[in-house]
Amino acid sequence: MRYGHFDDAAREYVIVRPDTPLPWINYLGSEDYFGLISNTAGGYSFYRDARLRRLTRYRYNSVPYDAGGRYLYLRDAASGELWSPSWQPTRTGVEDYRCRHGLGYTAIGSRQAGIAAETLYFVPPGETLEIWRTRITNRRGTRARLSVFSAVEFCLWDAWEDATNFQRNFSTGEVEVVDGVIYHKTEYRERRNHFAYFACSEQLAGFDTQRDAFLGPYRGWERPLAVEQGQSGDSIAHGWAPCGSHHVEVELEPGETRELVYLLGYSENPTDSKFDPPGSQTIDKRRVRPVIERYLDAAEVEAAFQRLRDHWSEILDVLHVETPSEHVDRTVNFWNPYQCMVTFALSRSASSFESGVGRGMGFRDSNQDLLGFVHMVPERARERILDLAATQLPSGGAYHQYQPLTKRGNDAIGAGFNDDPLWLVLAVAAYLKETADLGILDEPVAYDGAPGSETPLYEHLQRAVGYTLERLGPHGLPLIGRADWNDCLNLNCFSETPGESFQTTENRSGEVAESVFIAGLFVLAATELAEIAARRGLGDDAKSFRAAAARMDAAVCEHGWDGDWFRRAYDHFGNPVGSAQNDEGRIFIEPQGMCPLAGIGLDDGKAERALESVAEHLSTPHGLVLLQPAFSAYRLELGEIGSYPPGYKENASVFCHTNPWVVIAETRVGNGNRAFEHYLRINPSAREEQSDVHRCEPYVYAQMIAGKDAPTPGEAKNSWLTGTAAWALVSVTQWILGIRAEHDGLRIEPCLPSDWTGFTATRRFRGATYRIAVRRTSERRGDGVQLLLDGRPLDGTVVPAAAAGTTVSVEAVLPAMPGTAAELVTVSER
Ligand code: BGC
Ligand code: NOJ
Repeated sequence: MRYGHFDDAAREYVIVRPDTPLPWINYLGSEDYFGLISNTAGGYSFYRDARLRRLTRYRYNSVPYDAGGRYLYLRDAASGELWSPSWQPTRTGVEDYRCRHGLGYTAIGSRQAGIAAETLYFVPPGETLEIWRTRITNRRGTRARLSVFSAVEFCLWDAWEDATNFQRNFSTGEVEVVDGVIYHKTEYRERRNHFAYFACSEQLAGFDTQRDAFLGPYRGWERPLAVEQGQSGDSIAHGWAPCGSHHVEVELEPGETRELVYLLGYSENPTDSKFDPPGSQTIDKRRVRPVIERYLDAAEVEAAFQRLRDHWSEILDVLHVETPSEHVDRTVNFWNPYQCMVTFALSRSASSFESGVGRGMGFRDSNQDLLGFVHMVPERARERILDLAATQLPSGGAYHQYQPLTKRGNDAIGAGFNDDPLWLVLAVAAYLKETADLGILDEPVAYDGAPGSETPLYEHLQRAVGYTLERLGPHGLPLIGRADWNDCLNLNCFSETPGESFQTTENRSGEVAESVFIAGLFVLAATELAEIAARRGLGDDAKSFRAAAARMDAAVCEHGWDGDWFRRAYDHFGNPVGSAQNDEGRIFIEPQGMCPLAGIGLDDGKAERALESVAEHLSTPHGLVLLQPAFSAYRLELGEIGSYPPGYKENASVFCHTNPWVVIAETRVGNGNRAFEHYLRINPSAREEQSDVHRCEPYVYAQMIAGKDAPTPGEAKNSWLTGTAAWALVSVTQWILGIRAEHDGLRIEPCLPSDWTGFTATRRFRGATYRIAVRRTSERRGDGVQLLLDGRPLDGTVVPAAAAGTTVSVEAVLPAMPGTAAELVTVSER
């Protein structure tokens, strides 16, 4: 069952009923000012940091769902009837409800009692404000007299304090209302030099800034007293809960439309000119006033919206594909890269599942996110790499997280996740392949943010690889430390204390437990680094990284192979994890993806065997589960993984992030059909028709889908902020479609499902444009791909980088698979 549909021409998802299984959200803003917005106008806004600079209040895990948002109420003066065009918060019946989630904007509207209203929400590029543009049309045969009320509830900046420290914050709230603009200035009197504002383009009939005056005693947002009575209280908040509400009276002739503009924004003043006049407590508004005036103008709003659309077109034009699959097309052309850009901006901080007060930027997460956006914003990727590397520790290890505001490692979450540093190598390799900017390797970068400790970035990569080599266990495999990619495989934790953090506790020495997954990742990273070293003219380094990779490969084959699949780890006692010897958790997915992806077992059948085992033991209609059999109980020696009921999260859900690794592995053994099948199982668009089962948004990936051992198989959770976004995009574009940046140019080596007759793509790469046409033909003999560059046959599958500004055309010819649709088409063409 569906709740809406894709509108690909508009690059939108259109939700046609408001009661989606969960709030289906979108993001506003992509630079400094951000908002989350649900399909019924729920959500909140913040400046840069979802915890420390939160503008509006939101109630996570509220009843009913999704309380707090960007609300509008209409009230018919004649009947007294009131409703919200976005359905929430009044939840009164509306007709013709539509929410269009687009790239960086959302529009929500409906009709009620002959009055149509739609609001477009977006953040103009380069600004720290959001615009709500509301259009109200009278579709009645008679004149309508309406009251329009807006409503937001301000957050007292630090979202954690705001939700916990009531003895203080019930007394600190302050506002100003000047010329109809509501200014929220709590703590401005002391150390803050920032404030929020909420403005409206219309003459006001009244306003409210004290929440309880607006709502009335013991009322919620669903029926505010002021709206019911059609009259604001002109209240000024002193302490308690400051809010912002404008009251506008509108008269509309039949067929007439009125446009109202609201601005919700963030502004700062220099510390020495906070007040006007100096010595007063009144906000100096000289800087903010012109901004407000500018964007209250309808033409400016339209122009800003056009700039936003152009901004996204520019970014997404880097890769455009047309394939036989609509799911691939819309996912690859906009939703998936868009999601990657959101993970770039927000890491794992603020979503429907991440409250914005907890986590900083993950070192591992951010490096992997980069794989999904480096081609769209290479300059910003460069900056991100340097920020990440500057938090690396002198040992080569890494803090698990760092804080985006300070760019310092976060000690509270600790270090010692032994896979972490290796992801930096993959991120830098991806950046170099995209840009050929070898100069980044010479950038001086500090360790742990300490001035004076700088070395060239290249040395950071050496130390990352060295970190693994200095921490090998009894089988010559990497010690796992606190955990590896699987944060819940805590083999040195042994926690018996309720509530103790699995992520920071390490009760055992950590000298025995080893990770086969890190071994695979190491082979990949060391091979990448060898290539980088060779390009820097460091032949000896290249040789030694290659040798280290070969030794690790051998160790995996000797001690990491279980007979039918790769083992997952060795525990603190030296016993295998993820082995046929185990009663539960016999096979884990991570090494079956990562080892072949790194090239391990490709030439002796291990990779193919492992992938068969994946298909046999881990495949479900909803994707590949992380492990089987699920752990039925908590296991002291394994850590958090057994804390989850079977089928959820790391304990045998479809942990989506891992599926693209298997997709890539399948392409590495040449199995295009299975690669595509695995890809499609978790593709959100392909799951749209079971939205009632999936429950999360059908336009973005979720971190997990409940596995077959769960009571709710197929139910997704933790949508939006997940490494799945980057890896899914990499797997389909670089390995199935086979278009991938390499140091010497653009490789085009598709591994397609057998019934595809071909596809076309346009890729911008280092300033040149590549028009790519891939087709199967029964005339092609042999099993590889033959490239034609501007009509001339090319040796190999790498198209050398073309001069910036030029356009080249590349034809890739693949043999048709006997008996498939592709062959029949090419045969009948003859
Ligand atoms: C989750 C992991 C997550 C970790 C981060 C755990 O509770 O299961 O998915 O990576 O927390 O702190
Ligand atoms: C989510 C975390 O953000 C990521 O870093 C981790 O690899 C996965 N969970 C698996 O535990």
